[in-house]
Amino acid sequence: MKKLIAGVVLGVGLTAMAHGAGDPQAGEQNAAVCAGCHGQNGAKPIMGSYPKLSGLGEKYLYRQLTAIQSKERNIAEMTGILDNMSDQDLQDLAAYFAGKDMVVSQANPDLVDQGSALYRGGNMATGVPACAGCHNPTGAGNEPAGYPALGGQNADYLVKQLKAFRDGQRNNGSNAAIMMDVASKLTDAEIEAVSSYISGLN
Ligand code: HEC
Ligand code: HEC
Repeated sequence: MKKLIAGVVLGVGLTAMAHGAGDPQAGEQNAAVCAGCHGQNGAKPIMGSYPKLSGLGEKYLYRQLTAIQSKERNIAEMTGILDNMSDQDLQDLAAYFAGKDMVVSQANPDLVDQGSALYRGGNMATGVPACAGCHNPTGAGNEPAGYPALGGQNADYLVKQLKAFRDGQRNNGSNAAIMMDVASKLTDAEIEAVSSYISGLN
């Protein structure tokens, strides 16, 4: 009987590890301070220009946390917050928020047609690739590649990021370079429309 229990516990441990290196339960203990800005479970930020963290993807979240900690991605509002955290703490936080459900926002109905066309088909004339190719038609992202889920994210935050990629202000690493290239081809009107559309996507 003892052997059987040990076997079951070991099996559970291995399955949990197979999902990634982070431990969501350990992450929860460090997540209280995050709720002050990102909301409970990272699902309801206090401002539209702040991101939801829920369900964005463990690999993506971990990469952003290391970039924020090292200031390669400079976020003034988060100054000092990650300073005393170990690499394991960041992995645990990523696992915690990745496991929470995204609470979807609502798109402006007037922008859905334009936003959806760009998201699904890109803009052939100006060389914008379809967002769906990397971020999934449902906005769920691509976890193995570390491409973030976008569906349901705050529109104001998305607008801010697309402009930051376009201006070269958000430029940490090779994945950001992919988005700098995409965003360099987007007009302000396209950014508004696709961001609104994505905020209601799920
Ligand atoms: C004082 C407010 C504040 C607190 C507290 C805070 N954040 Fe943030 N966080 C922000 C803002 C603002 C941004 C977006 C900045 C920008 O526009 O790029 C952000 C961005 C992020 C991002 C990038 C999201 C993405 O989609 O790329 C992650 C990940 C993140 N925060 C995690 C955390 C975690 C984990 C904690 C707690 C340990 C935390 N934050 C605490 C304000 C805060
Ligand atoms: C070739 C793949 C690819 C395509 C096509 C692509 N993206 Fe991305 N996107 C990425 C990657 C990779 C990242 C993560 C960047 C990073 O790590 O800094 C990203 C990040 C983003 C972010 C930041 C998300 C956050 O939480 O901060 C937004 C917004 C975004 N993409 C919107 C779009 C839109 C809109 C389109 C279509 C016009 C698009 N992407 C097309 C690969 C792509």
